[in-house]
Amino acid sequence: VEAGADVLANGGTAADAMIAVQTVLGLVEPQSSGLGGGAFLVWYDAETGTMTTLDGRETAPLAASPTLFQDENGEPLGFFDAVVGGLSVGTPGTPKLMEEAHRRWGRTNWAGLFDPAITLAENGFAVSPRMADSIAGDADRLQRFPATAEYFFPGGTALSAGDMVQNADYADTLRQIAARGADAFYTGPIAEDIVTTVRTAPGNPGVLSALDLALYDVAARDPVCVEYRVYDVCGMGPPSSGALTVGQILGMLNAYDISDPNAADTWRLIGDASRLAFADRGRYMADSDFVPMPTKGLVDPAYLATRAALLAGDDALPEVAAGTPEWDHAMIWGDDASIEFPSTSHISIVDSYGNALSMTTTIENGFGSRLFVRGFLLNNELTDFSFATHADGYPIANRVEPGKRPRSSMAPTIVMKDGAPVLVIGSPGGSRIIGYVAQAIIAHIDWGMDVQQAVADAHLVNRFGTYDVEAGIDRVTLEAPLTDLGYKVNVTDLNSGLHAIAIGDKLTGGADPRREGVAIGE
Ligand code: GLY
Repeated sequence: VEAGADVLANGGTAADAMIAVQTVLGLVEPQSSGLGGGAFLVWYDAETGTMTTLDGRETAPLAASPTLFQDENGEPLGFFDAVVGGLSVGTPGTPKLMEEAHRRWGRTNWAGLFDPAITLAENGFAVSPRMADSIAGDADRLQRFPATAEYFFPGGTALSAGDMVQNADYADTLRQIAARGADAFYTGPIAEDIVTTVRTAPGNPGVLSALDLALYDVAARDPVCVEYRVYDVCGMGPPSSGALTVGQILGMLNAYDISDPNAADTWRLIGDASRLAFADRGRYMADSDFVPMPTKGLVDPAYLATRAALLAGDDALPEVAAGTPEWDHAMIWGDDASIEFPSTSHISIVDSYGNALSMTTTIENGFGSRLFVRGFLLNNELTDFSFATHADGYPIANRVEPGKRPRSSMAPTIVMKDGAPVLVIGSPGGSRIIGYVAQAIIAHIDWGMDVQQAVADAHLVNRFGTYDVEAGIDRVTLEAPLTDLGYKVNVTDLNSGLHAIAIGDKLTGGADPRREGVAIGE
């Protein structure tokens, strides 16, 4: 965050600052995001008053087939059997996304933006407690590959909090990208090393090729926006399910009074709106460049009103199913059951020009594929696809296809009022991202919490029926009333990493106390 703040203080834009932040994060929080991963970026441009999104999601290799994650009998692989190794590695998007954001919105010399990360990589950085805990918790998988083991277990001992670590290979990779742009990553020796690492991963080789890397491109897409109260909540459309699912939840809640954050009925409404939205997500949401999707229909106010009407009772809905949004296509999809674990990182930035940036960035699972090359980890993003190709005889929209981008839950969001941004927000957390972001927006808008309170607020998340209630935080007292309403309640840790900026007369930042981020600025 300090690296980004320095860029802003020297006249840089939010896009410039993001590059400094992302490259430092790839060093000091390597388990969550980095050059070997992908990201989605939402940009509000102060000069034009417009919003754009950049899709830097990983793509499936051209040699991938829909049965990529099935065994010889057509059975889905175990999750970690698929994750660890080369099979799960998609073509990284983050280096190209940084370059495209800089090309569109940067004002600072490209090469200089890599200096903070290069300096830290060469001089050494202190391992954080979270990074150390993550390494200790993943020892077996991290030690499967020599290069990964050597970095995270030097001399056979796990890195501990406070250890000073240098990463000369990362510094060298950054120097090459600084000098020659993203091409230095997508072609030539770095690309060759990535491909070799993936294709020769012991036990689980993948199919990524030099052509996949050479062909990779970032897509600019329109944001998906949904009205909530007097606001427009805007974010990342397909291939992310983030904005559509957050938008559906809020769009349904428009019809209800949820002003009491401690009332069980408030959580019944939020929880069942979320279940209904997740049912649609499981059936319809995927990469719309590859499969037809009722994108507009899913957030059409008339459709959301019919879904909201289902919430009019007093108890938890006994069951939920996908709805039938308006759609000019006759395809019937099967329901997806992808496995999604918490991971990822989030960056929110507002600059002195009034531009706002919300970017969620990931290598998917903690430590991604566990493959380490040239000083960074490679993603396992392809396991965000459905391992099964069909359900009940119908094709699954989010099945693997060559060149396709796996469905994401990442929900980088900018909330607008009267055409101007008022809140920049997002979070890591796998498919719980959607609940974290929706709840924090509700906390800020409906419950009047400032951004710090909103991101720290006790979480309750309902995706598929079970109510996850955050352990050890005051609203855990809702366990009994929610059980009485008919929910199965699961009291658990909920590791969000919300980062938000409220834009008013001044900027107010909030950083999630559950992670290691901070909010700084002036
Ligand atoms: N891999 C996390 C997400 O895209 O949702």
